[in-house]
Amino acid sequence: MIKKFTASACKFTLVVVFALLTFSTNAQSISTEPAAISAGESLFNANCKACHRVHQKLVGPALAGVHDRAPSIDWIKAFVKNSSKVIASGDEYANKLYNEYNKTQMTAFSSFKDEDIMNILAYVKAETDKPATPTPTPGVEPAGGATAATGASLPSEYLNVILIGMIVILILLLVVLGFLVSALKRFLDDKQLSEEDKEVVSSTITVGSITRSSGFIFVVVFLVAGLGFKAVINNLFSIGVQIGYAPKQPIAFSHKIHAGQLEIDCKYCHVGVTKGKSATIPTVNICMNCHNQVKSGATTGEGEIAKIVKAWETKKPIEWIRIHNLPDLAYFNHSQHVSVGGVECQTCHGPIETMDVVRQHSLLTMGWCIDCHRKTDVNSKGNAYYDNLVELHSQSKKTPMKVEDIGGLECSKCHY
Ligand code: HEC
Ligand code: HEC
Ligand code: HEC
Ligand code: HEC
Ligand code: HEC
Ligand code: HEC
Repeated sequence: MIKKFTASACKFTLVVVFALLTFSTNAQSISTEPAAISAGESLFNANCKACHRVHQKLVGPALAGVHDRAPSIDWIKAFVKNSSKVIASGDEYANKLYNEYNKTQMTAFSSFKDEDIMNILAYVKAETDKPATPTPTPGVEPAGGATAATGASLPSEYLNVILIGMIVILILLLVVLGFLVSALKRFLDDKQLSEEDKEVVSSTITVGSITRSSGFIFVVVFLVAGLGFKAVINNLFSIGVQIGYAPKQPIAFSHKIHAGQLEIDCKYCHVGVTKGKSATIPTVNICMNCHNQVKSGATTGEGEIAKIVKAWETKKPIEWIRIHNLPDLAYFNHSQHVSVGGVECQTCHGPIETMDVVRQHSLLTMGWCIDCHRKTDVNSKGNAYYDNLVELHSQSKKTPMKVEDIGGLECSKCHY
C-alpha cells in the first residue's frame, strides 16, 4: 500500500516537474533588460546582419515581429541553431519560408546558447517596438578618421616650415647688415680719409657687384642645397609609395555594394583582422554563403557571379590582386591595431565602403607609421595591461600616453 502510494507520488511529482519545465520554457518571455538588448545587438551585428535587417528584407526576411510570427520561441531557437534540420523534419512553416527564399540555406549557429538567441530576440523586439527609422545613406556617415591623409604629409610640412624659417632669418640678417653698412658709411664720412679709402666707402652697390659678392653666392648655394636636401628627404619618406593603386580584379567585386549598401561587417569577410597579423581575403566559401542564391548583380548581371560559382565548383581559389603590400623587412600586425589599439579600418584604408574598386589610401611608408605613433594616444581604457604603464607615464609627463611612449618608435618593433 505504502509502496504503491510512494510510487504514484513519485510519478506525480515527476509529471509536475516535467509540466513546470515545459511550461517555463514555453512561457519564456523576451527580455526588455538593456543588458540583454545590447548583448543581442552585438551578436546580431556580428552574425546575422550580413543577411537580416530588422525592418528590411535582405538575403533573409526582415526579423521584426518574428517572435509573434514564428510557430514558437523554441522553433526559433531550433531554426537558428540548425535550420536545415528543421526544414528536413518537414516542418510546414520552415519549408514554406525556405521555398519563399529560393531555398537559401541560412548559416547554422550550432554553437549558440539559448541565452544568446534570447538576447538577439530581445534586441529584435526592442527594435521592432521602436518606430522604424529611415536607414542612413551608406557612405554619408563620417568615416572613422579621415585625418590619416593629412597626417601622412606631416614630415614634408615640417621641412617646409624649417626652410621658410631659414629664408626669413637670412633676409633679416641682410637687413641688419644693410643698416650696419649705412651707419658705418655715415660714421666714416665724418673722418679724414685718404682718397683711396673714400672711393671704397662711397662705391655704390650695383646689380653686378651684388651677384659677384661672396655673400650672394653663399645664399644661392645655400638655397639650392636646401631644396635638393628637401627633395632627397621627401623621396626617402616615400619609398615605394603607391597611393591610389587600384588594379582591376578578376571579379568585379564591389565594397560599395557589399560593405556600403548591404552593410556587411568588414570582419564577416576579413576574418583574420582581429586575430592576427593578416586581415586575410575571404575564401570563395564566404561568397557562396549568399551567392548560391544571389545569382545576378544589378550592374554586372550574371557573368561576374558565375565566376564565383565556377571557382567554387572547381575548388580553384580566385586570384585577387594584392593592393596593400609592405616590403618583407617591415612587420605590421592588424589585430594589434584593430583589437588592441581600437583603430578603425577607415583610418588607414580610407572610405572602403564607398569604393567600387579598392584603392590604396595611405602612404604605407615608415614616415606614415611613425607619424601616427607620435600623434595617437594609446587606447588604454579597459585594458589592465596598460594600467601600470599609464600610471608611470602620468608621473613624468602631463600629456596622454602616446604609442611612441610604449615603444612605437623602436626599430625592432617594426623590423625583424
Ligand atoms: C547567410 C545568410 C543568413 C544568415 C547569416 C542568417 N540568416 Fe536567418 N535566415 C536566412 C534566410 C535565407 C532565411 C529564410 C529561410 C530559409 O531560406 O532558410 C532566414 C530565416 C530566419 C528566421 C525565420 C524568419 C521568419 O520570418 O520566420 C529567423 C528567426 C532567423 N533567420 C534568424 C537568424 C539569426 C538570429 C541569425 C544570426 C544569428 C541569422 N538568422 C543569420 C539567412 C540568414
Ligand atoms: C552576405 C551576403 C553576400 C556575401 C557574403 C557576398 N555577396 Fe556579393 N552580393 C550580395 C548581394 C545581395 C548582391 C546583389 C546586389 C545588387 O546588385 O543589388 C551581390 C552582388 C555581387 C556582385 C554583382 C555586383 C553588381 O551589382 O554588379 C558581385 C560581382 C559579387 N556580389 C561578388 C561577391 C564576391 C566575390 C563575394 C565574396 C568575396 C561576395 N560577393 C560575397 C550579397 C553577398
Ligand atoms: C563580402 C565580403 C567583403 C566585405 C564585407 C569587405 N571586404 Fe574587403 N575585400 C573583399 C575581397 C573579395 C577583396 C579582394 C578584392 C578587392 O580588392 O576588391 C577585398 C579587399 C580589401 C582590401 C584590399 C586588400 C589588398 O589587396 O590590399 C581592403 C583594404 C579591404 N578589403 C578592406 C575592407 C574594409 C575596411 C571593409 C569594411 C568596411 C571590407 N573590406 C569589407 C571582401 C570583402
Ligand atoms: C593602422 C593601420 C591599419 C588599420 C587600422 C587597418 N589596416 Fe589593413 N592594412 C594595413 C597595412 C599597413 C597593410 C599592408 C600589410 C602588409 O603588407 O603586410 C594592410 C593590409 C590589409 C589587407 C590586405 C591583405 C592582408 O591580409 O594584409 C586587408 C584585406 C586589410 N588590410 C583589411 C583591413 C580591415 C578590414 C581593417 C579593419 C578591421 C583594417 N585593414 C585595418 C594597415 C591597416
Ligand atoms: C592610424 C595610426 C597608426 C598607424 C598609421 C600605424 N600604427 Fe602602429 N600602432 C598604432 C596604435 C594606436 C598602436 C598601439 C596599440 C596598442 O595599444 O598596443 C600601435 C602599435 C604598433 C606596434 C606595437 C608597438 C609596441 O610597442 O607594442 C607596432 C609594431 C606597430 N604599431 C607597427 C606599425 C607599422 C609597421 C605601421 C605602418 C605600416 C603602423 N604601425 C602604422 C597606431 C598606428
Ligand atoms: C612604426 C614602425 C617602424 C619603425 C619604428 C621603424 N621603421 Fe623602418 N620602416 C618601416 C616601414 C613600414 C618601412 C617600409 C616603408 C616603405 O617601403 O616605404 C620601413 C623602411 C625602412 C628602411 C628602408 C628600407 C628600404 O628598403 O629602403 C630603413 C633603412 C629603415 N626602415 C630603418 C629603420 C631604422 C634604423 C629604425 C629605427 C630608428 C626604423 N626603421 C624604425 C617601419 C618602421
